[in-house]
Amino acid sequence: MMFDATLTDQAPCRSDRLTSLSEYPFPRLHALLADVTPLANVAPSILTIGEPQNEPPALLTSTVAAAAPSAWAKYPPTAGTPEFRSAVAGWLSRRFNLPGDFINADKTILPVCGTREALYQLAQLVVPTQKAGQKPVVLIPNPFYAVYQGAAVMAGAEPVFLDGTKETGYLPDLDAVPEETWARTALFYLCTPANPQGAVASLDYLKRALTLARRHGFTVAFDECYGELWHNSVPTGGLDAARALGGERPLSNLMSFHSLSKRSSAAGLRSGFVVGDPDLIAGFTRLRAYSLAGMPLPVLTAAAALWADDAHVEINRAYYRANVDAAEAVLNGKLGYYRPDAGFFLWLDVSQVAESGEEATKRLWREGAIKVLPGAYLTQPHKDGYNPGGRYIRVALVQDADNVARSMERLVRILT
Ligand SMILES: Cc1ncc(COP(=O)(O)O)c(C=O)c1O
Repeated sequence: MMFDATLTDQAPCRSDRLTSLSEYPFPRLHALLADVTPLANVAPSILTIGEPQNEPPALLTSTVAAAAPSAWAKYPPTAGTPEFRSAVAGWLSRRFNLPGDFINADKTILPVCGTREALYQLAQLVVPTQKAGQKPVVLIPNPFYAVYQGAAVMAGAEPVFLDGTKETGYLPDLDAVPEETWARTALFYLCTPANPQGAVASLDYLKRALTLARRHGFTVAFDECYGELWHNSVPTGGLDAARALGGERPLSNLMSFHSLSKRSSAAGLRSGFVVGDPDLIAGFTRLRAYSLAGMPLPVLTAAAALWADDAHVEINRAYYRANVDAAEAVLNGKLGYYRPDAGFFLWLDVSQVAESGEEATKRLWREGAIKVLPGAYLTQPHKDGYNPGGRYIRVALVQDADNVARSMERLVRILT
């Protein structure tokens, strides 16, 4: 080929899908607060990211330390180890009160390196090029975990956002979905307990979601990573709905995601699993063999030990419940406070005291060195520009109860 000196260099082409995504919440927060000087002489209170601040149980480090050096030399199998799958099956049976033969450990469970990557990747498995002759739809709660939108858009689907407001019990309004959209739906991300609102879907709601999935041929991804941190009663989950609906293939159309990140304060371990429809699990295993590095064998061993142990989870649950109690003692009746069913976020309505969640966020940083996240960074605006999260801030109660109490007193002083 002749070299043509008149041609100019061109930048490499790129996916135009990525550019259509909203900016990730944390860079937006960084930009919002870039010119705001926080109150001096107090330790900043960082209530933004949902990252555990208490230590994981000693069981984690002791199990990893005990791994034979050869375990680090091996490439881990995509499907994990029988020991891991059996520990997970045991936990599922205890947690959801399942009959012994309900979970086939080898056909329905897959380890994932944190649920985030698997929630993202699931869209690549279940979104076809077309559904009902049109562009497929991925249903996403609004507010939402940003990964859902990234997954939908990068898989070539149209994300359709379903508001979860006070009026809808803070869950996506299934009645708001037109028949034509159900027909195009390939995947429905359902976060329960919900981040950030802390609402838990009822058994009826879960059954309805799964029934709709079966009727219209889509997958429900039940994102249940906050399911162990409950404050009132044990949350129902996707498996409760599957069991209640029964049938020959009780797990069909269901993929349920569970994580050690919050349950065992082990976000750094990057360990969770998905349980669900054996056909989808088989397909996911195949897809992941092409793309995923797998969970290291010592991590699988540590994860198996953590799923087999419920005692440390009791302690963790009590820690977060004490945080919610501490916040509640200060906030009761203020800023639209309600007790979350589960999780460690508060979704506070600041519309009586600030122009917007963004304005409240700036004031809290300037006047109290308190960092929170504007609700609008977790929600998709409607076509007319109205943002259902605009009046909210999200507050993560991950510091200990004394710190939570102090931060909430400062927050209330500034905002009320
Ligand atoms: C709603 C929701 N889903 C999933 C995840 C992912 O958790 P992990 O990848 O640590 O399992 C998070 C993490 O914060 C989350 O808030």
